[in-house]
Formats: sequence, C-alpha cells, structure tokens
Amino acid sequence: MSLPGAPYLARHGGDLQLDGCSLDALAREFGTPLYVYSQRAMLDAVASYRRALAGRPHLICYAMKANPSLAVLQTFAQAGCGFDIVSAGELERVLAAGGEASRVVFSGVGKTRAEMRRALQAGVRCFNVESHGELDLLSQVAVAEGRTAPVSLRINPDVDAGTHPYISTGLKDNKFGIAHDEALASYRHAASLPGLQVVGIDCHIGSQITQVEPYLDALDRLLDLVEAVEAEGIALQHIDVGGGLGIQYATEAPPQADELVTRLLQRIDARGHGHRELLMEPGRSLVGNAGVLLTEVLYLKPGATKNFCIVDAAMNDLMRPAMYEAWMAIEACRPRGGTAAAWDVVGPVCESGDWLGRGRELVLQPGDMLAVLSAGAYGMSMASNYNSRARAAEILLVDGRPVLVREREQIQDLMARERLLP
Ligand code: LLP
Repeated sequence: MSLPGAPYLARHGGDLQLDGCSLDALAREFGTPLYVYSQRAMLDAVASYRRALAGRPHLICYAMKANPSLAVLQTFAQAGCGFDIVSAGELERVLAAGGEASRVVFSGVGKTRAEMRRALQAGVRCFNVESHGELDLLSQVAVAEGRTAPVSLRINPDVDAGTHPYISTGLKDNKFGIAHDEALASYRHAASLPGLQVVGIDCHIGSQITQVEPYLDALDRLLDLVEAVEAEGIALQHIDVGGGLGIQYATEAPPQADELVTRLLQRIDARGHGHRELLMEPGRSLVGNAGVLLTEVLYLKPGATKNFCIVDAAMNDLMRPAMYEAWMAIEACRPRGGTAAAWDVVGPVCESGDWLGRGRELVLQPGDMLAVLSAGAYGMSMASNYNSRARAAEILLVDGRPVLVREREQIQDLMARERLLP
C-alpha cells in the first residue's frame, strides 16, 4: 500500500517527512496536537482539476468547509479559485483571506434572512437554492435590498453515490436539494419571482465518492433538466456538478481529478452542452491528503484483551473516526525497531468513542510522535472544545518552510465570552 499523501509525504531514512520537513521535528518545535499541511500538495491538487478544464469556461469553487483556515483560503484565492460556502461565517472568512465574493457560490439548506442579506451586499456569484420556501424568502430579501439575487437550483438527482450514509446527499431520502420531478415547477416559480435571476443548476451527491459513474448518472439527470428548463425559455448559464471526489485513506483508488473532469466533459460534449460554464465544488480532494495531525504518545496501557495507546489528540481534534468510524492511517513519525503490537490509539476525552484508530500494529514508547494521515480535510474544521480542550495549532508548509498559520488556542480564549452570575 502506498502512503496516503505520497509523494508529498515520504520517509527519508525512516523519518516521516511532509514536503521535506521532518514531522517529528515540527511536533517537538511547535507542540502537539498539531495540524501540518503542504501548500504544494494543495496547489497540485487544484492543478489536476485545471489541466482537464483548460480552454473551457469554468470555476473551481473550493468547498471551504473541508478546511476553512485563512491561510488555506488565501492559497486557493491566489490560485484563482472561487469558494463554495454554507454560512455567513464562511463568507466573512473568504473576504478576510482576500477572496472575491463574485467567485462565491452560497450552498446550504438553511440560509437565514440575515445571511442572504449579507451575501447580497457582498455580491456573491450565486445562491444555490434548495427549496421553494428559500426561493420566496430570497426574492423578498433581494427586493427589500434593491438587488437581484442570482440563483441556481440545487437538484436532488436521486442517485446513489455509494458512500457512507452520513455523507451521502443525493438520494430522495436526504434533506438536500429539490426533487428532480419537482425541479421544472421550481424553475418556473423562480423565474416568476421579482427578486431573482435564474443563472444555473447544481447538485452535490455526496462525499468521498470513489467512482466516476455516480457523477455521470447525476450529470445526465441534470442535463435532462437543463434541456427541459430551456425549452420553457429559462436560460441557464452554468452547470455546477458539486464536489465529492474521494481520496485515499487506506486502499481506496478514486479517480484522479483530471480523469473525473475529462469523463464529465466528454458526456457534456456528447450531449451538446460544451459551451456552458462548468462549476465544481471540490473540498476533500483539494486538501485531504495535503495534511496530517501530529500527536504525542502519553501513556501505554497494555491489557488482557486490548492494548491502549493514549495520545494527546482526541475526538475533539479529529472527529471523523468517532463520528463515521472513519479509518485513517496512523504512522510513527520516527519508527523504532522492535516487535509491533496491536494498539488502540485513543485520546484523553471521557468517552469510549474517543479513538483515532483501533488495532494498529506499531512499536511505541511514551514520548513518541504519531501522525494521523489524510487529515487535511474535515479535521481542524470539525474540531470542538469538548472537555474544555483548546484547539490545535496549524502549520502550513510554504515551499517546504513551516509557517504557523494558527496559534494554539488558549484556555482563556474558551472562557472569553462567558460571564459569572452577578
Ligand atoms: N458542495 C456541497 C454542497 C457540499 O455539501 C460539500 C460537502 C461539498 C461541496 C464538498 O464535498 P467534498 O469534495 O469535500 O467531498 N465531514 C464529512 C464530509 C462532509 C461533506 C459535506 N458536504 C467527512 O469528514 O467525511
């Protein structure tokens, strides 16, 4: 099995390095838990999408929920990306990082009036609308603001993305999108509202998708609708196929981004829609394998039935294993010689669900540094303060040099907005 995160992540004489930087040394210099990302890996991941889109009108909207750190957003903004956002908070982050509102698509099933107002004032490129109620409210808010809201309708194509039920979003039973068979009526309704201008169509069928076929199925369903909607005189400028491309955590072999895009474009061309602008909303595939979470071994508790390795990172730092039973590779930063044992790598949080990996074959001593791989997406972004634990620091490796882009949170930060009773 190749190391997830290769070639940016590699061993040199045993020492695990990201972009040529020793992870053991970074952990000792900056402390743990510590997220470390390779900017080069992120930029190369965008380049893979770009290669296949060259010469086509397109916009890559980084789904920033995967990793919303300002320096990461800045990296993608400077690379010419737009952003897929799901809250006003995400919009403020984009703007703070130097991103342009005109390259932002605003997704999400529950946009509030205040969020709509803010996004209209900032001038987002389009609202990906998910219900009739949202169309009505957005039109009202836009009229009150004296503006017109550009809208795309998020269609639920009812295709199975073949992924974990919690991250599958394009099935009839999911809360997302407007049902395919109601979409035409929704477009008519949208076109009739005074505050809206219809500009596109979108979908997003799930996350960690490892095959091209579900995308092609969803695309076909979208193109059927594009044809039906335009037959009614409602023009659609762009097609947004969402995000969702998977990465390697273990032995998965998802298609490369350029392969996925090439297959999508072939289908789009075959159906005569090659002139349309294509939008994509990748998150995980741009950042997931660009990052690791570093953690120090605190204690070893060998037992009769299980061996526990207690580390200083926990479910509050990296929620994916606890929440989805996600398998993420765990490697010793500087492996020692000796006989490996099977360890459950667990955190200090008071929950039995607080584990990062189970039954991992490792040779360990307290004080060793471990790296949880493929942690660049949905790692720090889902971190919490459970158990009053301050969140980790973040390092971005820029041209192979470590830059501290988020200081470790302090306990005082956690209490800053609280008040004792008078
Ligand atoms: N667009 C929309 C509308 C989305 O809801 C999402 C992700 C994306 C794009 C980006 O999807 P990606 O390319 O990252 O798969 N926390 C989960 C993943 C949740 C994904 C939610 N939506 C995890 O850790 O696996």
